[in-house]
Amino acid sequence: MTVTSPEMIHRRLEDMRVRVDEELDRLLPPAEHFPPSIHQAMRYSVFAGGKRLRPILCAESGRLFQGDADELLRLGSALELVHTYSLIHDDLPALDNDDLRRGKPSCHRAFGEATAILAGDALLTLAFESIATPGSTCDACRLRVIQELAHAIGTEAGMVGGQVMDLETTGRPTDARTLDYIHSAKTGAFIRVAVRCGALVAQADEDGLARVTSYGEKVGLAFQIADDLLDVLGTSEALGKTAGKDREQHKATYPALHGIAESRRIAARLVEEACAALEPYGECAQTLQGIAQFLIARTS
Ligand code: IPE
Ligand code: IPE
Ligand code: MG
Ligand code: MG
Ligand code: MG
Repeated sequence: MTVTSPEMIHRRLEDMRVRVDEELDRLLPPAEHFPPSIHQAMRYSVFAGGKRLRPILCAESGRLFQGDADELLRLGSALELVHTYSLIHDDLPALDNDDLRRGKPSCHRAFGEATAILAGDALLTLAFESIATPGSTCDACRLRVIQELAHAIGTEAGMVGGQVMDLETTGRPTDARTLDYIHSAKTGAFIRVAVRCGALVAQADEDGLARVTSYGEKVGLAFQIADDLLDVLGTSEALGKTAGKDREQHKATYPALHGIAESRRIAARLVEEACAALEPYGECAQTLQGIAQFLIARTS
């Protein structure tokens, strides 16, 4: 059995990141296209940096079921547009009021609030246009991806619902159940749907779909726990976003509620369970398993 080392995972992530960036460049309108201000703002935020984890998870999940690599890359890149929209809006003064994102001034700091709101709207809209555009994926699959994605980033246990609860619990005592709802909804649901979408376009069977769903759910929650931990333990320089902000703003977070050591234990357990769900795939699942480990060990 070949064991995938952390170095191999880093190389794979880097290689995929480059490919996702090339695809994003094809997807986004050129900066000079009319009206240029919005296209500049969209490109600024998309290409400010970013790990491209959701596209990579989507592509790796589809690869598990021998999906078409180009089609998966296109779908994954559309997910990155959605993710970037969520970051632009998350940073707005009315939400987290963050000046730094991906190591640069956040979109509203660079382009003004109105353009930032519209850039977020435009990225979200472009993502759905891209997914709806016919390619080699069958119509029924594309329709299901659109429906599942829209649900996962919507109000019912989806990203917007999670963001609403994140804001409404800020500064208030929050119990563990509510915190799990927030994290699973604002972050977990999107990561879960990213791996599901990859599997769906690759025509995975029901058992395969259930296994990657379980992987995505657990990794999704672990990812936000790691994000909370990095806010406490990381530096703004390494993170490319303002460290220590959650405590300053009295956000409901894992370290605040469970402490640092217990949060780490919970994240590690979730990742173990996520990896176990893919055990039947043997060596083929090693990349997804390695990525899951990377997500909780990362420093940015
Ligand atoms: C940050 O996501 C926002 C969360 C959902 C926690 P990432 O850590 O994936 O941010 P980028 O894309 O690498 O900048
Ligand atoms: C954001 O969570 C989740 C999103 C839906 C964007 P955070 O507010 O913790 O993300 P960061 O730390 O600003 O990246
Ligand atoms: Mg937030
Ligand atoms: Mg934030
Ligand atoms: Mg955070």
